[in-house]
Amino acid sequence: MPSFRSSMTERGWPQDVGIIAIEVYFPSQCVDQQQLESFDGVSQGKYTIGLGQTKMGFCSDREDINSLCLTALSRLMEKSQAGYENIGRLEVGTETIIDKSKSVKSVLMQLFEESGNTDIEGIDTTNACYGGTAALINAVNWVESSAWDGRYAVVVCGDIAVYASGAARPTGGAGAVAMLVGPHASLVMERGVRSSHMAHVYDFYKPDLSSEYPTVDGKLSIQCYLSSLDNCYSTYSRKFACIKEASSPPMSLSQFDAMLFHSPFCKLVQKSLARLAFNDFLNTPKEELTQKYTGLEAYREKKLEDTYFDRDVEKAFMTNSTEQFNQKTKPSLLLATQVGNMYTPSLYGGLVSLIAQSTVESLSGSRVGMFSYGSGLAATLFSLKGSLDRGPDSALAKLIASQADLQCRLKARTEIQPDVFAQTMKLREETHHKAPYIPVGDTKVLFPGTWYLTHVDDLHRRLYERHSLSTSNVATKAVDVAYTKEASISLPNASNPLSSLPQPVLSNSSQQ
Ligand code: CAA
Repeated sequence: MPSFRSSMTERGWPQDVGIIAIEVYFPSQCVDQQQLESFDGVSQGKYTIGLGQTKMGFCSDREDINSLCLTALSRLMEKSQAGYENIGRLEVGTETIIDKSKSVKSVLMQLFEESGNTDIEGIDTTNACYGGTAALINAVNWVESSAWDGRYAVVVCGDIAVYASGAARPTGGAGAVAMLVGPHASLVMERGVRSSHMAHVYDFYKPDLSSEYPTVDGKLSIQCYLSSLDNCYSTYSRKFACIKEASSPPMSLSQFDAMLFHSPFCKLVQKSLARLAFNDFLNTPKEELTQKYTGLEAYREKKLEDTYFDRDVEKAFMTNSTEQFNQKTKPSLLLATQVGNMYTPSLYGGLVSLIAQSTVESLSGSRVGMFSYGSGLAATLFSLKGSLDRGPDSALAKLIASQADLQCRLKARTEIQPDVFAQTMKLREETHHKAPYIPVGDTKVLFPGTWYLTHVDDLHRRLYERHSLSTSNVATKAVDVAYTKEASISLPNASNPLSSLPQPVLSNSSQQ
């Protein structure tokens, strides 16, 4: 340890801490939202146009929060080749609680057994959809702290978002994201601007521990989301003014090359971008109002807190910000519209969607705004900066290459009829917390490499197996090919698999 400490001192404190690699997992089954409209007997367009949703991913009884996170973490570790022995912190963010004591993190530790690494800080964090952001902040803080020992941190966030049948059900989804965090990152968390808004509200919560379903006040939840956005943007802008160069303009949407939001449903995200445009409009001194705001003068006297459901303001600023939405936000909604609300990973699914549609040139040096919202409530606005290293072997280039198969994976899903989806939800309701229990869901439909539940014993202990990485199943074959191909993109050099990644200090110093 003393030699390690001196090595740390020589190297100084870590720079450019943030996300080095990222992986997403979503279920191999989905239901079409247009078909769901017919099945639910609502007017055509309510889910697809009104909410902006295309398909919704869902899990059979074969998957739970542990299996989702096992799958995402396995994917990240295999594709990044970071090495289980090089992880010093593992954080989990989730609101899908299946055990009031045993953490998901402790279940994930089985993946570390072969490496012998048990010296791993971090545990689960829960507050609705915010847990993943709390976990990411913890991970970044650890790497930047005096407690850092030179290894990577990993953040895993996952959830199964299911609602009782009714208005909220089409806003469900499921998935998990795993992120490798460390210095010299591809996407660096900007310092000094991170802004939060926390308050006590009952907008969406899960008081019934025997059910997977939340208690939701839909309208209040939207108001809380938008007011949190206003608050975070205002505080972020104030902090930005303190760190910006004197010559650069004050905070406005133009400072962000991309603006990502937690996405309960895509229409709310478009309204949120418009909300920031409305904030910018109100923040612009009257004498500096440009042509851009022609025709909007009537809204100068409006107050933010009176306009959460003001249709005129909403419409005017959605129209005003259409171009900004198309440029800065729409690309990030690919997973949100195709999979639905993943709760904690929703914002990070947005990041994966953006990465998959970016080039090194477009992402390098760009500022990505990230708004995280968890009901109850907890919200943070932070920003990531794309690394300036844009070489073909740079971490940023590898990050982008790692998501090249995203569209292909989405297309490889099996579309399930709404009545079968409804039966699956019923089965989950009836078997939730049942012990002993042997799941009945078909494992053959799972994507290669998916972890799944084999049984729950009479002591409620849950056992998992992993679906083969190669499979003869036709539906998932495309993913299998893409997964193998992409995995090899990240394998730079068999003798030194870490050479493509920023080197963890501990592994270097222990090699010396
Ligand atoms: N064609 C086109 N649009 C249509 C339509 C049609 N045939 N029928 C209805 N619409 C539109 C409506 O006009 C409405 O759009 P606007 O709000 O822009 O006017 C939209 O479709 C939805 O219709 P309703 O408002 O009537 O929908 P609803 O009240 O039945 O349910 C909901 C909507 C409240 C969001 C509900 O789905 C819900 O409770 N969802 C869960 C809660 C949620 O997601 N809250 C978001 C903030 S909280 C959060 O972010 C945390 C989290 O992840 C849960």
